[in-house]
Amino acid sequence: MNATPLTPILSASWGAPYSWRLETYRGFGGYTGVLRALQLTPDQLIGVVQTSGLRDRDGARFLTSDKWSAALDSGTGVKYLVIDCAESEPNACKDVPLLLASPHLVIEGAIIAAYAIGAHQVFICIRGEALHAVRRVQQGVAEAYRAGYLGERALGVNYRIDITVHAGAGSYIRGEETALLNSLLGRAGRPSSQPPYPVSSGLYGEPTVVSNCETIAALPAIVSQGGEWYAQFGTANSRGTTVYSVSGHVQFPGQFEAPCGTTVRALLEFAGGIREGHKLKFFTAGGLSTPLFTEEQLDMPLPYGSATTAKAVPGGNALQFFDETTSVLRVTRRWMECYAAESCGKCSPCREGSWWLSQLLSGLAEGRGQEGDVERILDICDGISGRAFCPLADGFVGCVTGAIRQFRSEFEVGYRRAANELFPEEQSAVFAWNESVPTAKSGNGGFR
Ligand SMILES: Cc1cc2nc3c(=O)[nH]c(=O)nc-3n(C[C@H](O)[C@H](O)[C@H](O)COP(=O)(O)O)c2cc1C
Repeated sequence: MNATPLTPILSASWGAPYSWRLETYRGFGGYTGVLRALQLTPDQLIGVVQTSGLRDRDGARFLTSDKWSAALDSGTGVKYLVIDCAESEPNACKDVPLLLASPHLVIEGAIIAAYAIGAHQVFICIRGEALHAVRRVQQGVAEAYRAGYLGERALGVNYRIDITVHAGAGSYIRGEETALLNSLLGRAGRPSSQPPYPVSSGLYGEPTVVSNCETIAALPAIVSQGGEWYAQFGTANSRGTTVYSVSGHVQFPGQFEAPCGTTVRALLEFAGGIREGHKLKFFTAGGLSTPLFTEEQLDMPLPYGSATTAKAVPGGNALQFFDETTSVLRVTRRWMECYAAESCGKCSPCREGSWWLSQLLSGLAEGRGQEGDVERILDICDGISGRAFCPLADGFVGCVTGAIRQFRSEFEVGYRRAANELFPEEQSAVFAWNESVPTAKSGNGGFR
């Protein structure tokens, strides 16, 4: 029996018919948080969020209230709020379900955050390929304008708030905040050097808060129920609840909202465990950009590291489980191909390094590797680590070195034999599993 309860706060209305409509959202207490927020001063509002202990859900896990205070302190000039719904980390699939099921949660949160930092213009930036989510949010924004929640006198107070929904061409790097701002300005979606940080000089050179949409969606409940109430969930370093994406060789892949600090073991149980007749081989815990973990780490609390430190990895809480039929080498090669395709090409360690790693891993996976290729791979990783322009490269370095550290012998077999000779059941087993799973609750299921 799972000791950690599912705790639907963000996902409370997800199962309701037409959950995305304004009327349904109001039925779940929607837009009461923002009414309370507008009765407070921005400082008081930031105090409530500080008490809640809310940490950013997709970035470096800063306290959200710290980022807001910095924006508020940057003066009374023009400021912007940009909501990051790029969600392109492979395996990550929490933002799109959130936007589809409950767009008004993000819209209400956006009004609260904009008011707190003194912004009048909000951009909700969604990965353009998720056209269904773009349309859903556009409809939600139109409903909110009609209801008087947005516009000249939002909710009847003398404060103008406008929301623009922006659909950008998707790429992994475009989720990084400076790349996102560049893409919003019509430039190539590549990162810029920091400092200056967006909070002091962002969109059009003005102070800009960039927040993930899950961070923003947490605000209505925090403001309507109080900071102390929210802080009761989670761990000392990681308060509240979060949406975990679970995919791979599990019985029921999907999104599960639970208190921060929930262990991987509990999340695996939510997903019905590893598919029948198989056993866990390894898992990833933060999209791809984390090392591989094995059974010994099942009791690790997530967000990764939350038990002892607030430091976390990119990729949110996207878990993917793999059983014994999987070749670590083939999976790592596939991921590396993805990184090589996603590298924006701005800096050579990432552009060249990802290409070379992809070539070497392909050689090994196809059984045409050469003695010493594993050392060559590690050497290239060493040359990339800490030298790239943005954290994307450190992400793939961690992924490759972690895989080799745990499963080195599988890579070395690639000097002589192809990975699919060693794991002939991999393809057929995945196919059979896809056929047998009734329906995933939501999400994109397996890796791409
Ligand atoms: C390579 C890379 C990809 C990222 N992708 C996303 C993304 O898809 N969505 C997102 O919210 N943040 C992403 N981030 C983090 C953002 O830069 C930023 O920290 C975050 O949007 C801030 O929101 P938060 O503070 O609410 O987490 C990414 C960062 C990196 C380095």
